[in-house]
Amino acid sequence: MNTPLSRRSFFRMAAAASAAAAMPILTEPQLAHAQRRRMAHAYGPDSVRIDANENPLGPCSGACAVMSSLLPEGGRYDMELTQKLVDTFSAQEGLSSDYVLVYAGSSEPLHYTVLAFTSHQHSLVVADPSYEAPMYAAKYSGAKIVKVPLAADYSHDVRAMVAADPGAGVLYICNPNNPTGTITSRDAIEYALANKPQGSILLVDEAYIHFSDATPSLDLVKAGKDLIVLRTFSKVYGMAGLRCGLAIGRPDLLAKIMTYGMNANPILAVAAATSSLQTPDLVPMRRKINTDIRTDVFSWLTANNYKFIPSQINCFMVDTGRPGREVIAAMAQRNVYIGRVWPIMPTWVRITVGTRSDMDKFQVAFKEVMTGPTAAALRSYGPAQVAALGTRDLPPHSAKLLL
Ligand SMILES: Cc1ncc(COP(=O)(O)O)c(C=O)c1O
Repeated sequence: MNTPLSRRSFFRMAAAASAAAAMPILTEPQLAHAQRRRMAHAYGPDSVRIDANENPLGPCSGACAVMSSLLPEGGRYDMELTQKLVDTFSAQEGLSSDYVLVYAGSSEPLHYTVLAFTSHQHSLVVADPSYEAPMYAAKYSGAKIVKVPLAADYSHDVRAMVAADPGAGVLYICNPNNPTGTITSRDAIEYALANKPQGSILLVDEAYIHFSDATPSLDLVKAGKDLIVLRTFSKVYGMAGLRCGLAIGRPDLLAKIMTYGMNANPILAVAAATSSLQTPDLVPMRRKINTDIRTDVFSWLTANNYKFIPSQINCFMVDTGRPGREVIAAMAQRNVYIGRVWPIMPTWVRITVGTRSDMDKFQVAFKEVMTGPTAAALRSYGPAQVAALGTRDLPPHSAKLLL
């Protein structure tokens, strides 16, 4: 029956739904894609794609072999394969298997954690600059977003984050941090756990941890602390397009995020993830490749007097000394697609570490761009062009973050 109360609730729900619909939760690939769209560009075969923190090496050979052999099974939901991944990961990390959930990438559990633990009353506390997806998710829960600038060494200013809002629901710590590639110390994370507002949790995003010296936080999960750790197979394991990620936390915390939905996982992805975990030299080998290339790029940047943040991961920030958006546009004109700008650091751009050949091309294009004027490059992607392009997959607010 249509009582006045139910009509009111209906309108309230409808209003909430349409507000949310205007504000999709954007993630790394969508932000990179949106930036390219605004420049009317699509990758060509020779494009240098260093804008989305992907791993150009792709899945390891063992993972590829497993996926090929599994293809004919693609007609089946196979929950056993997901369980095998859970069992493999939890055995390696000494965790009980009910502390691990598998998703098609770490974006889903990231969003669900923010939705589950923030609200109008309980804010989201983030570092600035840091990965933006939690902030997009907080728009759905209606939570206040409290941004705390990174410390002078570009680590998370954990003391300031803990003190930022006594009503915090989630403190998001991206360790190592996207976009700066910098580390937040174990002491700082322990401090946050000991001093965070009552009822809040830490969301420790370890998407890039394998590239770095950062201390993982999984033992804190095992010790029963109030945190959820995220891992992804998109970065060091080169499976961004295949989609596999993990949420690791106490079962009572995971139960809260499970209320937002669990789905069958892509069988190729979970089998490839298990195979990757079972390849012992994979992480050290890929870490070395990434470190060697990044170190050489840093030597080149230093030799050419460019200012950069010494990252430990597969991306780094460079100060262009001018609006970073101009440099992005000028680089795109040279078929080199670099990452985005964060509003708090408008002259800095994020560069993903690609292959050696990618980085050679990056260096040539960057030097050219930095020795000439760049304002015209940005003007050539004017509002008329953007309008002509259409912005179907771009929510209006995201335009402000992009070119
Ligand atoms: C810090 C961080 N967390 C999470 C993700 C989401 O990755 P995925 O959904 O591919 O696991 C990304 C993607 O770039 C990221 O940079």
